[in-house]
Amino acid sequence: MGTEREANEKASGEGDASQLEAASIADVSVEVATVDHTLQKICRKYRKTRRKPKGLKRLQARLLSIPHLAVIITAVVFVVLIIMWSLLWVFLFRRESNSGVYFAGMFRVANVEFIPEYRQAESREFVSLAGKIQHVVSNVFKVSSVARLYKQAIISDLSNNDKGGVLVHFWMAFVVPQLRSKSVCEECVEAIFRDSVHISMMNRSSVGYLLGLPVDMDSILINAVERSDYSSSGAGSQCVGKLYANLPGLSVPLNVFSSWGDVSCHVKLTSAPGSLIRLTVTSFLIEPSDCVSDGLTAYDALLPMRGRILHRMCEPVSRSFSLVSTSNVMLLSFRMTNGNKSFRGHFEAIAEEMSQIETHVEPDIIGQIYSPFHPSLLPPQCFSTWKFETPSSALGVALQFQNYVLKPKEVNGCEHGWWKVNEIIFCGSYVGHHTVFRISDHSPEVEFRCSSRISAQPFQATYSSYNISQPCPENHFLCSTGLCVEKSRRCDGLDDCQDESDEVFCSRPTKNCGGNSPLHPLFVCNGESDCPNGIDETNCTQETTCSAIRYQCSSGSCILKKNAKCDGVLDCQDHSDEADCACGRPSSVKKTGSPPGRERIVGGDNSVEGEWPWQVSLHFSGQLYCGASVLSSDWLVSAAHCFSKERLSDPRYWSAHLGMLTQGSAKHVAEIQRIVVHEYYDEYTFDYDIALLQLKKPWPPSLSPLVQPVCLPPSSHAVTDSHRCVVTGWGYRSEDDKVLPSVLQKAEVSIVSQTDCKKSLGPVSSRMLCAGVASGERDACRGDSGGPLSCQAPGRGRWFLIGIVSWGSGCGRPNLPGVFTRVNKFTSWIYSHIS
Ligand code: ARG
Repeated sequence: MGTEREANEKASGEGDASQLEAASIADVSVEVATVDHTLQKICRKYRKTRRKPKGLKRLQARLLSIPHLAVIITAVVFVVLIIMWSLLWVFLFRRESNSGVYFAGMFRVANVEFIPEYRQAESREFVSLAGKIQHVVSNVFKVSSVARLYKQAIISDLSNNDKGGVLVHFWMAFVVPQLRSKSVCEECVEAIFRDSVHISMMNRSSVGYLLGLPVDMDSILINAVERSDYSSSGAGSQCVGKLYANLPGLSVPLNVFSSWGDVSCHVKLTSAPGSLIRLTVTSFLIEPSDCVSDGLTAYDALLPMRGRILHRMCEPVSRSFSLVSTSNVMLLSFRMTNGNKSFRGHFEAIAEEMSQIETHVEPDIIGQIYSPFHPSLLPPQCFSTWKFETPSSALGVALQFQNYVLKPKEVNGCEHGWWKVNEIIFCGSYVGHHTVFRISDHSPEVEFRCSSRISAQPFQATYSSYNISQPCPENHFLCSTGLCVEKSRRCDGLDDCQDESDEVFCSRPTKNCGGNSPLHPLFVCNGESDCPNGIDETNCTQETTCSAIRYQCSSGSCILKKNAKCDGVLDCQDHSDEADCACGRPSSVKKTGSPPGRERIVGGDNSVEGEWPWQVSLHFSGQLYCGASVLSSDWLVSAAHCFSKERLSDPRYWSAHLGMLTQGSAKHVAEIQRIVVHEYYDEYTFDYDIALLQLKKPWPPSLSPLVQPVCLPPSSHAVTDSHRCVVTGWGYRSEDDKVLPSVLQKAEVSIVSQTDCKKSLGPVSSRMLCAGVASGERDACRGDSGGPLSCQAPGRGRWFLIGIVSWGSGCGRPNLPGVFTRVNKFTSWIYSHIS
């Protein structure tokens, strides 16, 4: 929308300019007539009043002769044009080249006692103190290196916290010519302010003097802010609300509706010094747009400072949750476009939590530990310690987390929690399964600190004691996730450990087709006849208990047949396996790709029109950046790593090129409404590398069959040897290629077993899948990311999206297959967002 708006503005700007040009030409022609006319008039008058000497008459006659007149007129027109152009330049362009740069900041003034009157900006007391402080801030900048650019400082709020004194919140505005925009950067402005505070060496505290005002150096924070924030919550704005929670435990309702028009408002929440604010969001009904048009940002301050964002809500909320501030203030910045949008919730003052917990762990008894402020989101600076004690030195402590894992700290900092367990540091991260962390000590001390700058998801763990010498019960296998599973479950084709650690390094299962032990689940109803007597493919549609490798019909019942979806046979009693099957069919266009011998992608060939109608080319700021696949008329799927940096996550910079064979010839270019990156995506390991993109408008059905969805594999889907798998994209054709191909490339690859892949590439999670050829001659490469690894069901069946191009070690190297996101692990995640 932004780009559209920018384009419109640009276009209307251009329109203005041409109108002005037209206007000036019209004006000039009037002027010419007038000059001519006046000249004639003057001449007539002159003739009447004075008798001219003969020479003068001749001169006049010569001047008024046709060729001379033309020269004069041209000169006058020229002069008028120059004057008008200069005026235009002065009024339009010069004014435009200066722009406002805005900051919000805060600092604590020590030694001033807070009085309740300071809460009202209209009170005499506020006006008097704010006036003094404003004067000081202004004087600091008026003698600084940016004095000529400084415009004004406004004190917006005075609050108090448990540190004493008065916390000052202020705005600052600078008017900066575009050429000098770098001289008023955030760091520069903060440095000017800090350098003006003089700390005496004798004084051990962090309080120094700012032109006589005692200022706490540690409290200074200055952030650049958007002009819109400055004007919507700055001085004089009508849309700033202040609410107070004075009594602890008393909740204050907070509801905002947009039914009367656009809302762009700031609500400031304050509670008593020493308390914290807990905001509970009951519901937030908005149009999801990645916070572009609708959204709510909660700040851990009274002004919208980027460095103090607690939480951003860009998606509708229907399940209630809460978040906690780190002090007694919070700012809510609402943005809701006209319509039936609403926010419902409440807030209250809460006490700080006790952070030291001592626990005696009795054998066979399990207990719970919770993240600070659970079930609220974790605030940025939280801290907690747990001291456990088991009855014997042979018993350690096991912590079982629901969706969280502790791993030894590596070179990178911890992003999702910092843990110290008996002096050893671990980093926490969120995962989609259970894990067990065992501490082989009978009285360990566990320390946890929040490490994210914004609020994070809460966690919870059960603790119990375990036998240090034998962590798992008899006949159990210890998984890498820390879980214990029965030994008989190892190599049974089922991911019991939740990270497949029970399914790697397995010898290839034997097909005991006539044997008395049950057939290995890998062979059962996988669509391929593995046994000569065909018993592995019998009774496949009989209803049975559900598990991850069995197909689940819409009714909830399960059948053994793994690949029942859209195979042209009605397998489920409710026929749901053959519903929604408008997918995975290339439009039958001319056959054959590029002539043999022309190497493409890494070892690929040119595709032909309509061969991969789900293939999308994603362009960032107009440049090819990633691939994606069509899932429906308004959803695409791609890789999370394509969107992981700040600007990359803004949907306005992206466009999706659909129905394209050669770059630049898309049948349809779509704008992106929002990007949903998987919540557990890990930018270091590329685990959970998946993202969904919602289009602003569905692509027109007339584009079919050149644009079509790919089939989404059910969780039970199994790729067998008789599947044909092809990776496609416009990425580089070799590791050190410099030019991207213009025609969509395709390369046939085979699925590599997880065991072999881990052997050659190392950290390959169960959410990843490897594919390639041993020689390495066919592979994906840079630029193919996010694009599909499509596999065709045997018997020229439908194409399923089995993988998403994710990472690799170089491109096309022997024995180093490409790594793809394993799509069937995300089927329910995908449906939860797109349906
Ligand atoms: N991460 C790469 C991209 O951003 C894709 C790499 C795939 N590499 C490979 N050898 N298969 O485009």
